[in-house]
Amino acid sequence: GKKWTELKNLTDLLKDQVVLIRGRAQTIRAVGKKMAFIVVRERGFTVQCVLNVSPGAVSPQMVKYATGLSRESIVDVEGVVSVPAQSITGATQQVEIQVKKLYCVNKAVPTLPVNIEDAARSEVDIEKALQAGEQLVRVNQDTRLNFRVLDMRTPANQGIFRVQCQVENIFRQFLLSEGFVGIHTPKLIAGSSEGGSAVFRLDYKGTPACLAQSPQLHKQMSICGDFGRVFEIGPVFRAEDSFTHRHLCEFTGLDVEMEIKEHYSEVMDIVDRLFVAMFDCLNENCSKELEAINRQYPFEKLKYLRNTLRLTFEEGVQMLKEAGVEIDPLGDLNTESERKLGQLVLEKYGTEFYILHRYPLAVRPFYTMPCYDNPSYSNSFDVFIRGEEIISGAQRVHVPEYLSERAQACGIDVKTISTYIDSFRYGAPPHGGFGVGLERVVMLFCALNNIRKTSLFPRDPQRITP
Ligand code: 4AD
Repeated sequence: GKKWTELKNLTDLLKDQVVLIRGRAQTIRAVGKKMAFIVVRERGFTVQCVLNVSPGAVSPQMVKYATGLSRESIVDVEGVVSVPAQSITGATQQVEIQVKKLYCVNKAVPTLPVNIEDAARSEVDIEKALQAGEQLVRVNQDTRLNFRVLDMRTPANQGIFRVQCQVENIFRQFLLSEGFVGIHTPKLIAGSSEGGSAVFRLDYKGTPACLAQSPQLHKQMSICGDFGRVFEIGPVFRAEDSFTHRHLCEFTGLDVEMEIKEHYSEVMDIVDRLFVAMFDCLNENCSKELEAINRQYPFEKLKYLRNTLRLTFEEGVQMLKEAGVEIDPLGDLNTESERKLGQLVLEKYGTEFYILHRYPLAVRPFYTMPCYDNPSYSNSFDVFIRGEEIISGAQRVHVPEYLSERAQACGIDVKTISTYIDSFRYGAPPHGGFGVGLERVVMLFCALNNIRKTSLFPRDPQRITP
């Protein structure tokens, strides 16, 4: 086979060598009849290829053929690496290729619904260009999502989904190193797992069923099955009604469940160490990807402490109160007060990542363990990045009679979860866990403004294609 060079590896170390690359023709520009430039792109990296008519290099027919290629066509280019005197604006690689051979492997249609260069521009850049009188089309979100295969090609998107892959990878590696076992629970289940109305109902061969809103019930049952510590990475389905910047109808859940020896802080300890390790690792190992994201969507590096700050819900309410925000001390925080508290925490403690625990019992799901000292509160927590929730977790009720009572009190049809409740009759240890939204982690780590940016093919109340 031939030796192929990846675009990201094209540096001046390869000067004067012949290389063979495959990529997409991002832009094609003719200069007279004897010269043409093709910017070739591969996985977000770009290089300028120069066709210059001369004996032993390319013919005038070749230049003509090249300038007739449609943008985004797949091309193979063979040529010599050269180092231009001036840096090449607009290409990521600072070397050029003096083309000897050019093949089109598969052509794209002549007119594309999305121009990748336009789709890759930052808002600041667009504003500047518009002021300078440049003709350009701002690519809106729906257009991007309708033509996601094109939109995915921008350097920022190439970065986002590589970062997402790393988040998942670090989650898995960290938990494996802590003795957790990876499991897979069913996504077709008999009843709602979180309560509430946000559930997709379906017909399971004549029996009413639903798509799992979380692995909650079955991950707990695995603890009853003596696995001790489990995690799952899998799809989660929520029939959300509202169209918001942070809710999807399908997302990827990173779930954890574990035995607790003495206190639910053991679960928060895992959150703490897992996420500090994750942020460190992303900053260290994904700098190229984060830079690419930053170029299109500028953001500041996340501020976090070595030991994650833990505040009680009561402390949070107090901070809000002092700042003039009135909150029901036994109610939930709304999006606005969560944001506000995030700001206050940043000002006071210098962190944008923290845990808020001991939530009022009334605002938590039926399986949540009340506090031993005050049953108006619960052994539960939420975790925030930049004032928005990425995790919720808790200790669970492990006494079957009480669990059944709690479910009923929360309006759940206990018949639909009877096998779950029965699991606790055969010897069930104290336990707890948490669920993380993968798309939310990436969105908030990179301070992106919409969860659709971190979902490859987002599913929301108005979208089920592409
Ligand atoms: O807060 P949630 O609903 O909690 C649970 O599912 C529990 N079973 C977790 C546990 O172990 N106690 O969802 C957990 C996380 C949220 O913090 C959020 O990051 C994400 O899942 N999430 C969503 N992400 C995208 N779109 C939605 N509609 C989401 N709903 C929740």
